[in-house]
Amino acid sequence: MTETVKDSIKMVDIYVMGKRYTVPETLTIIDAMEYAGYRLTRGCGCRAGFCGACATVYRIAGDYELKVGLACQTKVEEGMYLAQLPFFPGRKATYDLEEIKPSAAYFAQLYPEIYRCLGCSSCSKVCPQDIDVMQYIAYIQRGEFAKAADISFDCLMCGLCVSRCPVNIVHYNAALTARRLFGRYIANADPFLAERTKAIDAGELDAEIEEMMAADKEKLQEMYNNREIEK
Ligand code: FES
Repeated sequence: MTETVKDSIKMVDIYVMGKRYTVPETLTIIDAMEYAGYRLTRGCGCRAGFCGACATVYRIAGDYELKVGLACQTKVEEGMYLAQLPFFPGRKATYDLEEIKPSAAYFAQLYPEIYRCLGCSSCSKVCPQDIDVMQYIAYIQRGEFAKAADISFDCLMCGLCVSRCPVNIVHYNAALTARRLFGRYIANADPFLAERTKAIDAGELDAEIEEMMAADKEKLQEMYNNREIEK
């Protein structure tokens, strides 16, 4: 980087676990932490807003509001006090998908806390994917699993919804179960998928799989863009 370019980049002060660092304002939180010398072995995955590993809470100096975001998608700001949440503890019900049924009554045994929802919408407001979390919980309460599966599909399971829920609902795990119920009992069986699975088991696609594993990024993109899509 030339001196001129370097000098033109505005620097901001951020605070990681209370310690101040001066970093370029163009960086995301993850990049800024690495710029500051952190080696991230937790709280960092895809770096593209897909894996949900980098949930972060922060507050801007002088602002009362506690904010959240994905560290790989959120740019640093002056006076940002932040802490990462690489894991947020949430209860996960155990069940046998072959034994539970897609009904609200069965679901209530797994996640009874969903009926304590106060309708505060904290979960929806906090979601970095802009998912209407409160709405899918309402769908699950009524046993409308297809709708819940549909609107929760982009969930990254970052856990931020759970971190703000006043009645301790574990939304992302409830949504995962709803999607499983939808896939197992409600969605129509897909003949294309069954055919492809059979072909994989029979080794008929081994050469294609080898080709994919050996491909570089550009080649993979090309293959993806030209892939056969089920009707
Ligand atoms: S690192 Fe995967 S969502 Fe941020």
